[in-house]
Amino acid sequence: MKNIVTSRKLLFAAMALALVWAGAARADDQMDAATKARIDAFEKGPASIDISKYPSALKDNYDLFSQKCTQCHKLSRPINSDYALPSEWSRYVKRMMRKPGSGISSSEAKQIYEFLAYDSSVRKKAAVDAKLAAATPEDRAADEAKIKEVHDKYDGK
Ligand code: HEC
Repeated sequence: MKNIVTSRKLLFAAMALALVWAGAARADDQMDAATKARIDAFEKGPASIDISKYPSALKDNYDLFSQKCTQCHKLSRPINSDYALPSEWSRYVKRMMRKPGSGISSSEAKQIYEFLAYDSSVRKKAAVDAKLAAATPEDRAADEAKIKEVHDKYDGK
């Protein structure tokens, strides 16, 4: 009797694990239609960013972004995505980093995040301003501080 209970528990544990794994590995072809349509639209836009006016210290970050974020989809997907705030990029880069086989270390994820936060504050400034205006005062202050942080780190470098 005890053995049956234990093996049942094991079976449930295995099933739970399989579900978590399937969720993590969720590929593009398993997305619902609305999500797929939204993401497909991003991919039709430009596939590179003109960084010639950005601080040259950000060049390595951009190169890393171009290498790591093209392994599973086009670079145009993040470039034209509607994510713009540092908090959005921080959450999303972590999500991408955790996908099986991403090959993105946490220090690389940080460099990519810094590039995306900086880039959005320049190239997507209108979207950033609109999102900041709609945020709660606490969230706005946190995102403004993170934008300042990347500018302090890279401007003039
Ligand atoms: C291991 C494969 C893989 C890698 C590497 C990867 N992605 Fe993704 N990406 C996906 C999949 C799968 C989706 C579909 C939605 C999801 O699962 O989140 C996606 C979706 C996206 C989206 C659209 C999300 C939305 O709902 O609007 C953005 C933006 C994005 N990725 C950015 C990045 C960035 C930035 C990097 C590099 C740090 C990156 N991706 C690296 C697999 C990957």
